[in-house]
Amino acid sequence: MSGLIPQHFIDDLIARADIIEVIGKRVQLKKAGREFKANCPFHDEKTPSFTVSPAKGFYHCFGCGAHGTALGFLMEYDHMSFVEAVENLASSMGIEVPRDESQRPAHRYDELFELLAKVERYYQANLRNNDAAKDYLKARGIDGATAKRFGIGYASAGWSTVLDKFGKSNEIIERLLAVGLVIRKDNASHYDRFRDRIMFPIRDARGRCIGFGGRVIGDQEPKYLNSPETVLFHKGRELYGLYEARQAIRNIEMLVVVEGYMDVVGLARHGIEFAVATLGTATSDDHLTRLFRLTEEVIFCFDGDSAGRAAAWRALEATLPQIREGRQIRFVFLPEGQDPDSFIRDNGAKAFEGALAEGVPLSDFLVRELALKVDMDSVDGRARLAELAKPLVQRIPQGVYRELLTERLAEAVGLSASKLHALFSKDQETGRGQRYARGIAGIRSARSQLQSGVSKPSVVRRAITLLLNNPEAGQALDVEKLAGVTRPGTDLLRELIETVQADPKLTTAGILERWRNREEGRHLGKLAAVEIPDDEDFDASAELEHSLDQLAAYRQRERMDNLVKKEGLSSLSEAERAELREHRRGPEMSG
Ligand code: UTP
Ligand code: MN
Repeated sequence: MSGLIPQHFIDDLIARADIIEVIGKRVQLKKAGREFKANCPFHDEKTPSFTVSPAKGFYHCFGCGAHGTALGFLMEYDHMSFVEAVENLASSMGIEVPRDESQRPAHRYDELFELLAKVERYYQANLRNNDAAKDYLKARGIDGATAKRFGIGYASAGWSTVLDKFGKSNEIIERLLAVGLVIRKDNASHYDRFRDRIMFPIRDARGRCIGFGGRVIGDQEPKYLNSPETVLFHKGRELYGLYEARQAIRNIEMLVVVEGYMDVVGLARHGIEFAVATLGTATSDDHLTRLFRLTEEVIFCFDGDSAGRAAAWRALEATLPQIREGRQIRFVFLPEGQDPDSFIRDNGAKAFEGALAEGVPLSDFLVRELALKVDMDSVDGRARLAELAKPLVQRIPQGVYRELLTERLAEAVGLSASKLHALFSKDQETGRGQRYARGIAGIRSARSQLQSGVSKPSVVRRAITLLLNNPEAGQALDVEKLAGVTRPGTDLLRELIETVQADPKLTTAGILERWRNREEGRHLGKLAAVEIPDDEDFDASAELEHSLDQLAAYRQRERMDNLVKKEGLSSLSEAERAELREHRRGPEMSG
């Protein structure tokens, strides 16, 4: 969407915005040195770990990892879309947002929300008038109050009831298409997507309907039909039932993740109001971030069958990077053939709560599943278990939990914890990516990271961090020094240097906004939170230049190593031989 608003306008807006004012209006901030602190508005906490840096134009929570710019804050805190956040920020600063008319958005979000709300009410009215649909819900044990609480409705059987009722103009038909309620046929006529289905509205954090799930009443296929991805609806991010849970419970102590709409609704019917479901997708990092903002305890509840176990394992893998001190993650496996909805109907809420209480901690589940894959009675088998555990443990941020899990594994494989620890962390130095996963301690000790050799970040990563935090220090860099350097992240570093050189006024937050929709953006967000020394004698541009020189030197050494290897194979070209000769002469002449 950012293409609609000129990039230079966003750069400028971000550079001029006072993040302290934006956040301070919504959260009580306290000054602490160069920064401001508060209890994090995105998760429950007693001591403030939410930090706002006016210089960087950036906020970051050391507790839950939430971070972003003033725009990001408005999007997260007030659940605004990007465009809404830009408009809000601009108007609070008395600036008008320029619009490129040729690129005007196809739809206004408020109109799409309004249309969805109208159709939602229409589906609900249909349900009241349709006995077959009501009987179906009744047969599944859903009472009127629960149906109302979730806004459940019914889409009639015809091919164009929604289309006929709402699609009075081409403009509205386009909106119906945009929110996925109608489908366009080849010949430009349209028909309803949802027909003869029980309708479950899916809500965003503010309770607005952003899409639907529709279940057949009989046994046609597919059993569930979901709204397609639209500008408002992103399956991989939304959790069905989260808004309803927040409405029902003031202080959410735990959240249970189940697989289906009917599981959420069925559990709520029996007083378990803290269940949410992914929408037919695997648990994603976005899902987990949302969950852990609200609670420290997440329980995954799956069927006891092999599909359920596989889903649980995927959830475990997704959760590893999110493990922090104080967070509890457990897994509940229901008896084969049962899902949460049928289980609670057959056994009642007490039994379900009992099952939750007996949930297996993540560490137990991990060790248990791995133990199934090896022969625990042999030394080889136990060594293999350690091997299998290694990449998983390495995805967990450094900290107490990781230590405990290592101890737990050490016990299982019959090694001393220190040995296993050495095994895990040794590999980590050579492993790429994993070492990036650092916990609170890691971020806090960023200064020692930059200065000492402990858990040394790669040169590229360090350079990116420095540049991101001191964009002005990148002005004089010679990006040509990076020619031929192939280390991971070099392309990003080069692009960052070129970006700050092209726009010398770009701030940290401005860079992050440029990368908002890109894969690396998230990574940059984390690096922007690293504290950089503010000593008088710390010279970021000299450090950066040194990093580039180092990279160029590595590249040169690699090249020479290669040539020496080729020399051994007698396959050097004339030019290469000359280059090698030149290189060998170099040190003698200077020495
Ligand atoms: P299940 O097949 O486990 O169904 O799908 P369920 O939730 O137990 O449904 P009931 O009890 O028969 O009504 C779990 C979830 O997977 C997605 C839906 O989100 C569903 O809630 N799903 C399933 C689909 O998207 N499409 C399908 O055809 C089936
Ligand atoms: Mn079911």
